[in-house]
Amino acid sequence: MAVVGFEKRGEVALILVDNPPVNAISRQVRAGIIDRIIQVQEDPQVKAVILGAIGRTFMAGADIKEFGQPPLEPGLPAVLQALDHTPKLMVAALFGSALGGGLELAQACHYRIALKGTKLGQPEVNLGLIPGAGGSQRLPRLVGLKKALEMIVSGRPISAEEALEAGLVDRLAEGDILEAAVAFAEQMVAEHAALRRTSMLDVDTSDIEAGFFDAYRQKTAARSRGLVAPELAIEAVEAVTSMNFSDGVTNERRLFMQALYSKESEALRHVFFAEHVVRRIPHLDPMIKPRRIDAVGVVGGGTMGGGISMAFANAGIPVTMLEVSDQAIEAAKQRMRANYQGAIKRGKLTEAEVEERLALIRGTTNYEDFGEADLIIEAVFEQMDLKKEIFRELDRVARPGAILATNTSYLDTNAIAAETNRPGDVLGLHFFSPANLMRLLEIVKAAKTHPEVLLTAVKLAKRISKIGVISAVCHGFIGNRMLEGYIREAGLLVLEGAEPQDVDQVIYDFGFAMGPFAVMDLAGLDIGYMLRRQFPAERFDANAYRLLDRLVEMGRKGQKTGAGVYKYEAGSRQPQIDPVSEGVLAEERKAAGFPQRRIGDEEILLRCLFPLVLEGAKILDENVAYRPGDIDVVWINGYGFPAYKGGPMYWADKVGVGKIEAAIEIFGETHGGRWWQAGRLLKYLSREGLGFEEYYRQKFPSIYE
Ligand code: 3HC
Ligand code: NAI
Repeated sequence: MAVVGFEKRGEVALILVDNPPVNAISRQVRAGIIDRIIQVQEDPQVKAVILGAIGRTFMAGADIKEFGQPPLEPGLPAVLQALDHTPKLMVAALFGSALGGGLELAQACHYRIALKGTKLGQPEVNLGLIPGAGGSQRLPRLVGLKKALEMIVSGRPISAEEALEAGLVDRLAEGDILEAAVAFAEQMVAEHAALRRTSMLDVDTSDIEAGFFDAYRQKTAARSRGLVAPELAIEAVEAVTSMNFSDGVTNERRLFMQALYSKESEALRHVFFAEHVVRRIPHLDPMIKPRRIDAVGVVGGGTMGGGISMAFANAGIPVTMLEVSDQAIEAAKQRMRANYQGAIKRGKLTEAEVEERLALIRGTTNYEDFGEADLIIEAVFEQMDLKKEIFRELDRVARPGAILATNTSYLDTNAIAAETNRPGDVLGLHFFSPANLMRLLEIVKAAKTHPEVLLTAVKLAKRISKIGVISAVCHGFIGNRMLEGYIREAGLLVLEGAEPQDVDQVIYDFGFAMGPFAVMDLAGLDIGYMLRRQFPAERFDANAYRLLDRLVEMGRKGQKTGAGVYKYEAGSRQPQIDPVSEGVLAEERKAAGFPQRRIGDEEILLRCLFPLVLEGAKILDENVAYRPGDIDVVWINGYGFPAYKGGPMYWADKVGVGKIEAAIEIFGETHGGRWWQAGRLLKYLSREGLGFEEYYRQKFPSIYE
């Protein structure tokens, strides 16, 4: 089957890319388009040409798999040149997603028609890149400089309607896009429409005031900390004001190459693939199909139950939410309504859309109302006895084949499943707060969870716009288990002499949105306090929590009480250093008897991050996570690890596993071996000089397929 097909309908030729799943512009696609263009040029019968695609989408961009490999000829610029020089009228027929290089090819056609619902964008910055095939030069010529800049620097796609209004497309279509494109091309031929070459259009810069680019740079730098691509994108687009088209394209290519070989882009491309690979369940029998989920039940309408209900309602899935009383139902509904108000204020939803979503959530106090549910998620207090009791109830009322899930953060999912007569249908679905917004979902595979149930959860995660990562059962699963060491070291560092704001600053500078103390103030210091009292004391280093425990006992629970590690002015989320908490810290330092010293930024960083690697390696060795990239996905989407550093395991590979193992040994000698114990896998990789990703891909290639 040809990757680029060809067809003639009267005087109109169709060049149709057929490279599933997303028609990425691979080498064969590039070569195929060039060949087809040569073919139509030589055919005197052909008056117009459609550049289109078969399948679920127009071309969604360059083939990301080729980046970082030796270049394969012909390159995308050669295709654009062929398009730009063709003497036949060229129309791009857009549907699905016209992104990156796909949109650039469309821009090089003379006209564009798009099916309603098409998304058009230059998302390259999300991969640490900039448009590399003329997008920075052609897009401003079509939509104006400011709009092009916004699209390229934000990476956000626009709708077909917005594209029509901006001048990026010339016509909208409904129904069959190819039929509509042929009719449009025939009309243009009949009207002797000009071959409108985008490269020849003038750019309107009349609305660009003096200092515009400086101001734009400043605004962008503030929100794209640590990234080089947005700055390079601005530079590429700015060239439109001073260079002709051809110089602008050469300049863009130079900047594109700079972005392509940046550390950030390499890391972001790793994340892109890790977020796709994570959906694959190793060794799954291909005959297994997911179950249908048309109706969901949620037990508990608190912080998590409410957010989870919203997440399903947002995907159009009806929810029955069970609470202890009518009052509790009403309170839950009020909280959900208030959350939705925020989305209305931000212009993300209309009043009518919110009403539609709320109408999908029905409150009840009666378990019998779960009879129709295909999936029931329990999100009540973190108490084993209560959860067990609820699962016995659910087992009684749920229809055969319904899936039962717990949102527990730490409790043993196997013990919960054992309360039912259907342990194969039980698993953990660990959402993150706020559950309607956070992308991460840990899918906890209990010992007896049926693969069909696991597959259903993986598919469902995508349907509700989450990234599902499978974890086996262990204390804290992947994310919270790793968090313990990170928080412990932050706590010990401040007892040894570092200030909380120093620790937070180092972590912020590394790229996290917030440091550990600011995060704990936000989440509530009492949450960890209560948890620590539920688990055996030997799990924790009591010294690490001296400050936090004292603060909670003083009623300082974080932002919600106006003070925690920091203090907060009424209505503000801005942490301020607080002498009261400094006084408590001074007392606790004394009581712990730790010698005080100045602690450098490097030590702070490594003490906080190496425990992630240490624990991550154990998680892999114990088969709690399938792949190192899965751990990266968890920490990027659930804990704010900077995506442009690739996640903790990718970052460890870049630092060098051997170096980390050596540092852990030194920390063990200076701080005691209780926590600083490299496990089997870390030691092995260090000895063999291998990285996590390298080792897993070599040793277990099948888990990536
Ligand atoms: N290259 C290679 N593979 C790609 C790809 C690309 N550009 N885009 C998607 N894929 C693959 C995915 O890895 C996935 O593979 P898998 O099934 O083996 O896991 C498969 O296509 C389907 O992708 P999704 O599951 O994401 O499908 P969706 O329907 O949910 O989304 C999409 C489709 C909106 C196209 C989304 O995949 C997407 O946003 N892709 C990235 C688009 C992009 O960034 N394009 C710009 C590339 S850079 C570029 O063009 C540079 C140029 O300027 C020179
Ligand atoms: P919460 O205290 O906000 O809500 C619990 C809700 O359950 C309350 O509204 C309560 O009325 C209801 N409830 C209690 N017993 C019930 C019963 N028998 N039947 C029906 N409803 C009952 O608690 P939160 O924070 O929502 O946590 C719920 C679960 O989610 C816990 O297991 C927790 O560990 C987990 N979790 C919490 C996260 C968080 O950030 N808050 C994150 C991820 C998981």
